[in-house]
Amino acid sequence: MERPLHPFEQPRMLPIADIVQETENVRTFFFAVELHSKPGQFVIMWIPRVDEKPFSIAYDEDGKLGLSIAKVGRFTEKLFEYKKGDLVGIRGPYGSPFTLQEGSKRILLVGGGYGVAPLATLASQALARGITVDFCNGARTKTQLLFMKRLKAMKIHLHIATDDGSEGRKGFVTDVAAELLAKNSYDVVYTCGPELMEQKVVNAASEKNVPCQVSIERYMKCGFGICGACCLDGSGKRMCLEGPVVSGEFARTQSEFGKFHRIASGHKIFFDAR
Ligand SMILES: Cc1cc2nc3c(=O)[nH]c(=O)nc-3n(C[C@H](O)[C@H](O)[C@H](O)COP(=O)(O)OP(=O)(O)OC[C@H]3O[C@@H](n4cnc5c(N)ncnc54)[C@H](O)[C@@H]3O)c2cc1C
Ligand code: FES
Repeated sequence: MERPLHPFEQPRMLPIADIVQETENVRTFFFAVELHSKPGQFVIMWIPRVDEKPFSIAYDEDGKLGLSIAKVGRFTEKLFEYKKGDLVGIRGPYGSPFTLQEGSKRILLVGGGYGVAPLATLASQALARGITVDFCNGARTKTQLLFMKRLKAMKIHLHIATDDGSEGRKGFVTDVAAELLAKNSYDVVYTCGPELMEQKVVNAASEKNVPCQVSIERYMKCGFGICGACCLDGSGKRMCLEGPVVSGEFARTQSEFGKFHRIASGHKIFFDAR
């Protein structure tokens, strides 16, 4: 059966309503629109004459859509030149979300970099259901920790780790997550961030037989399943449609998970295990 055209599949030109500097190189771009998305889903942003790129939804409530974006290359450098009132195209939401399981009592969320964005929304939804949330937030240094104000305002157990020890525990957030997994009993583990971090979390959850959900980012073009740009080797699963959020057990069976991803040309880029 032909899939019905989503009203947002045509990019909708929206003025930037507000811009908030979150960390040294991450800004949240707000738009006066609500997409009724679920945590872990993403939109595709179009900058005319530049490109289209996928971004996770960081806020989608009270008539406000927020995308927290790191300045890394050509597209995001252009976006960072944009001011309030400038127009960009938005289509979506797309992709599979993180899901809270019926009967969950305590969950563990592990995020790094802008991966914290969808997990923050998931945490507020879990709290609203009376679920206890342990939230691990990691970054290289204090000034790169995303959403600290937002997270501190929530009734969660917040665990911080920085590589240089400038805030919270010195070391990797995955070590903190492993300790928590050894100490507490969790119903589900959720993770989003750099893939090598995610892989460690997925493996640690699997060792403890705790179900895990993980977001796998791959190069995306269409965003809704027709171009094949985001397929995983072997299974061919499209990370824009059957992902980005998949189960940890599925991720563990994928030969490229935690090893490499592909760029626009199809060339493999191996993850840097520094
Ligand atoms: C599902 C999903 C959610 C994402 N959410 C966010 C987010 O919330 N915030 C954020 O800052 N970034 C997010 N990204 C990554 C973001 O799309 C790219 O970092 C961004 O497009 C970089 O573009 P650039 O031209 O500035 O840099 P480039 O120099 O072109 O790219 C830098 C790196 O970004 C990745 N990238 C580039 N183009 C794409 C593409 N079309 N699809 C996927 N990855 C790409 C590649 O790993 C590349 O090496 C997400 C990606 C995916 C797939
Ligand atoms: S981005 Fe086109 S199929 Fe996934």
